[in-house]
Amino acid sequence: MKRTLSTELSQSVSQKVRVRGWFHSIRLLGKVNFLLLRDRGGIVQVVVQDKEQLRRVTSLQVGSVLAIEATVNASSQAALGVELIDPDITVEVPVTEVPPLEYNKPEIGSDLEVILDHRPVALRNVQIQAVFRIQAEIAHAYRLYMHDVVGASEYFAPNMIGASSEGGAEFFNVDYFGYTATLAQSSQLYKQMMVGVNERVFALMPFFRAENSNTARHLTEGKQLEFEMGFFDTWHEVMNIEEQVIKYIVKTLQERCARELAALGNPLIKAPETIPFPRLTFAEAQQLYFERTGKDDRNEPDLSPASERALCEWALEKHGTELVFVTDWKTEKRPFYSYPKPEDPTLTNTFDLLCAGTEITSGGQRRHTFDSMVEGIKMKGMDPNNFGDYLSIFKFGMPEHGGFGLGLERLTMTLLRLKNIREASLFPSDPKRIAGNRIKAKIYYGGENIRNEILRLLKMHEMEFKHLVHEETPTSEDSARVRGTALEDGVKAMIVRGKTSKRNFQFNIPSDRRLDMKAVADAVGEKCEFEDPAVISDRFGIIVGGVPPFGNLLNLDTYFDQSIAARAQVNFNCGLRTESILMRGPDLITLVAGKLGPFAKAG
Ligand code: 4AD
Ligand code: MG
Repeated sequence: MKRTLSTELSQSVSQKVRVRGWFHSIRLLGKVNFLLLRDRGGIVQVVVQDKEQLRRVTSLQVGSVLAIEATVNASSQAALGVELIDPDITVEVPVTEVPPLEYNKPEIGSDLEVILDHRPVALRNVQIQAVFRIQAEIAHAYRLYMHDVVGASEYFAPNMIGASSEGGAEFFNVDYFGYTATLAQSSQLYKQMMVGVNERVFALMPFFRAENSNTARHLTEGKQLEFEMGFFDTWHEVMNIEEQVIKYIVKTLQERCARELAALGNPLIKAPETIPFPRLTFAEAQQLYFERTGKDDRNEPDLSPASERALCEWALEKHGTELVFVTDWKTEKRPFYSYPKPEDPTLTNTFDLLCAGTEITSGGQRRHTFDSMVEGIKMKGMDPNNFGDYLSIFKFGMPEHGGFGLGLERLTMTLLRLKNIREASLFPSDPKRIAGNRIKAKIYYGGENIRNEILRLLKMHEMEFKHLVHEETPTSEDSARVRGTALEDGVKAMIVRGKTSKRNFQFNIPSDRRLDMKAVADAVGEKCEFEDPAVISDRFGIIVGGVPPFGNLLNLDTYFDQSIAARAQVNFNCGLRTESILMRGPDLITLVAGKLGPFAKAG
């Protein structure tokens, strides 16, 4: 029998159908039981009464792949208006392992770090799935509008390039057969070249930024919706096009993503079609921020995150939209290609678009003559010789032109009011993670891996140590007895969790003493509590009792009670409860690069 999708079932009431999908959950009520099956259309309810049928699924875990033949029954209670009855269930792929998080709940209760640690399965959660379906619609709507309405051609630019496009130091170098290549910060230079070819061009391009900032709005890899056009009467036409495409995207989401938006609690920001996005100059924006808050940033070269928020609040109050353009930025703060204002070259014909409190776009008019472009490159302290290809276009006829780069993750985050940009990236990279994985903790995940790494480090640094294998020692007292050492020579390695940030930290103190939680709070800047052993084993692959004082290998900020620095000998479990290391106290602190402080009090 052909497969029917959950969304098509309402057209087959009273008929027999075959559905396929993932086992989502089961509610056992005795006589009547409700099984939920997830497919790409949504979630369908299957009423299971037959004992044999029930037996087939009761031991299954979430995610098992099922095929079900059943009869469609109209039901006002069920979400789709129909449910399936009298099922014949086939288990195509059984799952017996409990998933690492309860992704089948409407909202995963864990914090973002845990969600990211288990990204591939977490993405199956209905809310998280909704975010990325919406993101796909955003990209699709952007393409449609640029192609059909603006008449722009899509281009595909290289991502490994010879020189930085945005200047500054925020780019990654890669070894390219012994030469140094750069990962593109944007396709800026190429989209300008393409204006000389097709006049109006757009792209959905990856970007890479070596920004070592751990904020809620920065990634090191993302996507930009790029646009560039030649021949305008005024450079404000670039903003007009961006405004229209964003309104088109918002309208598309309202029309096509009702189910996804509902799953997220209808968060879509306010951007009514009929209300123009207000446009303020940079100077006006600073003045307005000063008048609204009394905070005087009028001599700053940039807008602070607080002022970006205040400007969007103003736009909402005053105009009823949450987007606002800020134009005419200072030349010193804009990239070399920015067009200086003829009437005041300390300013540029550039803009940022702010959405719900965050910059989502930079753009503007570009320099378009050879001499002007060389001047711009030199002004920023760069070498025109590195821009050969790019500079050649300005010798061979470039019209007045301009464009913008719109961050896809920033747009997704702000349109949906997500708190953190990582929620808008499938596999986010940032200074702590690459493609979703923790850079360090994943490498040294699990007791054996950590023990091996500790041994490798000790040997590499030619430090004196002893490695003991012994019976299991769950407590410090057991350890001291088995190792034949004094209790106070043992190091207790403890993982705590910030009550506000939920971040983990490691504190290492002598085994005969207790952790001083007040000193801990002072050191990390927030109150902390002990992390749950189940979380520690899940996140780091270590059983409590085996945790070594090497928090650095777990990607944790690590602190030592200062008394450890003075001990001739210390000992600790090295990832496993059955193995210990004996070494010198100062060596340990050097190896871990831990911070010292008075973290222990009498036991
Ligand atoms: O403001 P940016 O650096 O401007 C450019 O790349 C220019 N080539 C644009 C132009 O056409 N003149 O980056 C553009 C947008 C930002 O507004 C932001 O939405 C996104 O790209 N973006 C980032 N998003 C997340 N994390 C980062 N580290 C980002 N850097 C830029
Ligand atoms: Mg910018």
